[in-house]
Amino acid sequence: MSFDHKVKDLSLAEAGRHQLRLAEHEMPGLMALREEYGASQPLKGAKIAGSLHMTVQTAVLIETLTALGAEVRWASCNIYSTQDEAAAAVVVGPNGTVDDPQGVPVFAWKGETLPEYWECTNEILTWPNGDGPNMILDDGGDATMLVHKGREWEAAGQVPPTTDEDPEEFQVFKELVRETLKSDPQKWTKISEGIQGVTEETTTGVHRLYELAKTGDLLFPAINVNDSVTKSKFDNKYGIRHSLPDGINRATDVLMGGKVAVVCGYGDVGKGAAEALRGQGSRVIVTEIDPICALQAAMDGYQVARLEDVLGEGDIFITTTGNFDIITADHMQRMKDKAIVGNIGHFDNEIDMAGLAKVPGITKTEIKPQVHEWTLAATDGQPAKSIIVLSEGRLLNLGNATGHPSFVMSNSFANQTIAQIELFTKPGDYEKQVYVLPKHLDEKVARLHLPALGVELTELTKEQAEYIGVDVAGPYKPEHYRY
Ligand code: NAI
Repeated sequence: MSFDHKVKDLSLAEAGRHQLRLAEHEMPGLMALREEYGASQPLKGAKIAGSLHMTVQTAVLIETLTALGAEVRWASCNIYSTQDEAAAAVVVGPNGTVDDPQGVPVFAWKGETLPEYWECTNEILTWPNGDGPNMILDDGGDATMLVHKGREWEAAGQVPPTTDEDPEEFQVFKELVRETLKSDPQKWTKISEGIQGVTEETTTGVHRLYELAKTGDLLFPAINVNDSVTKSKFDNKYGIRHSLPDGINRATDVLMGGKVAVVCGYGDVGKGAAEALRGQGSRVIVTEIDPICALQAAMDGYQVARLEDVLGEGDIFITTTGNFDIITADHMQRMKDKAIVGNIGHFDNEIDMAGLAKVPGITKTEIKPQVHEWTLAATDGQPAKSIIVLSEGRLLNLGNATGHPSFVMSNSFANQTIAQIELFTKPGDYEKQVYVLPKHLDEKVARLHLPALGVELTELTKEQAEYIGVDVAGPYKPEHYRY
C-alpha cells in the first residue's frame, strides 16, 4: 500500500512503536473503547482530518479511530510539538514496515516552519482524488479556521491583501489560502459542504467555535470536548501539573525550589501550573483579572498580585491565560537577570516575542533547540542582562517536553472518540451549534479509568438515589454542577 505522508524519518518507527505499546497500557479509556466498538465499526465511512499535537498519546488516539473503522489524515497543531518517532510509527502502522508502510498519512515533524505548518494543515483537508474529509478533529481550531476563512474569502472573490498589521502567522496563512484558490477556486466550498462536524480539544479552539456560532457563521455542528469535565478538569489541570515542570526541567534544569514563580491566569491550566510549581518548592505568585479565580488563588494560599509589581521579583514567569499580550517586551526588560519566561496557553501571542525581537541592541543566543537567551544591552544605570525564553513563546510543555502523560490524555481522547462517534453516527441530531457531550458519557469516561487505579466506587442504594433525586446508574449531578 502506498500513500502520501511527510514525517522526519520513518526509521524511527520501531522506537515509536515501543513507546506506543507502553502508552496503550496507560490509556485504558481508549483501549476499552476499542474493545467496546471494535466489532461494530461505528466510524466506518468516517474520513477524519486530525489537527492535534502528533505525540505518542495522539498516536494511540489515531489507531483507536482507525480500529473503529475511520480513515484518518493527521497533522500537528503546533510547529514544535511533534514526537518524530510517534509520527513515524503511525505512518508505518502496527503491521507495516519502513519499506512498506501500512498505517495512516501523517504530515508532521518537530520544528516545522510556519509555511510548512499551514501546508501540513492543508494536506489533512486535501484527500486523494480531489476529495475532502467528512469530519474534523481539531485542537485550537486551525483546521476549522482554514475551512471557514477559505470559504469566506472564496465567496468574497479574494483573500484580503496582507498588511503590516497582520501577525506573521496570519500573513503566512493568507498566502496559503491564496495558493489553494489558484489551483481550485471552489476548493473550500466543496470541502466545507462535505464536513459533518468537528470535535474540538482545547479552550482556545472552543472559544473560536462559540464566536462562529454566535454570528451564525459556523458551517457544521461542533462538539466542545474541552468542557467535558473529564477533559478540562483533568488534562488542563493534572496534565499541566505534570508537563509544566517536565518542560522547565528539560529546557533549563534549574532548581525550582526556593524560586519565585509567577503564574499568569488561574483557570484550569493555571491551577495545575501553580500547584506543580508549589510542589517543587517555588513561592508562587498568581495574576488574574477574574475576581472569582483571584479569590480561589488567594484561598489556595497564593499571593495574588499585578504582574507590573512583581517583575523584579520573579525567577520564572508562566502564562496560562489563552489571552494575548500578557507579558510584553517592556515587562521582559524589567525582569531579573536570567529570569525564565514561558507560555503554556495555546497560542504564542501571550508573550510579545515580536516586540522583544525589536528591542534596540537585543541579541538572541540559542542555548539548545527551543531554549533561547535574549541578552539586553547595558543602558544608563542598568548592566547588561539576559532572560531565557522557552519554545519561542509557544506552549512549552509540548515544545520543551512531550506534553501530558498518557493516562490523563486517555480521558481527553476517550471524549474525542465518543464525540466523533456521536457526530458521525447521528448527523440529524445536531444543528450548526456547539454542544458538549451529555453527562452520562462524561461519567462513562471517568468510569473507564477507575479500575486501572484500583478505585472502588460506592454504589447508591435505590432509596439513597431517590433521596437525592438521581438514578442509581447516574448521571449523579445536575448540568449546572461545577465540580
Ligand atoms: P481558563 O479560561 O480556565 O483560564 C484562563 C484564565 O486566565 C482565566 O481564569 C482568565 O480569567 C485568566 N486571564 C485572562 N486574561 C488574563 C490576564 N490579562 N491576566 C491574568 N489572567 C488572565 O482556560 P484554561 O482551560 O486554563 O486554558 C488556558 C489556555 O491553555 C488556553 O489557551 C488553552 O487552550 C490552553 N491549554 C493548553 C494546554 C497545554 O497542554 N499546554 C492544555 C489545556 C489547555
